[in-house]
Amino acid sequence: MPVKIIIRLFALAAVLAGAGWLLAQSDDAPLICDPADLLRRQTELANTLDTFPKMAENDPQAALEQLFQVGAAYQELALECGYIPPDIAARFVGADVARILTLLDAVSGDPLNGQLLYNSDTLACYGCHVAQAGEAAPALDGTLTRAEETRLADPALDGYTVTQYLVESIVQPGHYIAPGYNNVMPNNFGDRLTLQDLADLLIFLESQDGPSPE
Ligand code: HEC
Repeated sequence: MPVKIIIRLFALAAVLAGAGWLLAQSDDAPLICDPADLLRRQTELANTLDTFPKMAENDPQAALEQLFQVGAAYQELALECGYIPPDIAARFVGADVARILTLLDAVSGDPLNGQLLYNSDTLACYGCHVAQAGEAAPALDGTLTRAEETRLADPALDGYTVTQYLVESIVQPGHYIAPGYNNVMPNNFGDRLTLQDLADLLIFLESQDGPSPE
């Protein structure tokens, strides 16, 4: 199928999906964004798609990258408008901290399940983060206290909230390396944790409010 037709189909699908969503949404929560602004930005994104065929000829790699980003931008647009997919809790969280912080409001965490996940062999958080001694990784004990009193006092984390710090530590561990440790924590938890898993882990970590052993 020629690229132009694929793009037309893609754009059409996006418009139909958008229209269907606006209709579906009207019964539920009102839109929290301005519909005129939404349409203006949607048109801008659609224009980006129109430039795809030309870009694809000149620089296919860049064209695909742009396509990829337009998809994310459409999602962002919907989220900004207050749209939360009904199955959001079961979707993988990804690594965009700002987006995750918005979505976390839609679920409530279960600390007991958080503890189970933490100690599960699949995630194996406990394999590095032992309760007391912080050798390979910071201790589990006092995680909340340490985040509040030590980490957030670091100018590198100026303006962070505790939840933001914990989320970033889990989905983008290489962004801020806790002093005295190495960057060895797996950086793919965003692809392995659903929003619900992450909410459960967070509430479990936030219950670690005793003294920090380190
Ligand atoms: C392979 C070892 C390893 C595994 C597995 C691991 N971590 Fe880590 N984690 C680290 C290390 C090392 C650091 C400190 C360096 C850094 O900041 O990335 C860290 C930092 C953290 C921090 C910040 C702690 C602080 O004191 O500031 C949190 C929160 C955290 N990890 C949560 C988790 C969770 C939740 C899991 C499981 C889903 C997990 N980690 C799995 C090694 C690991």
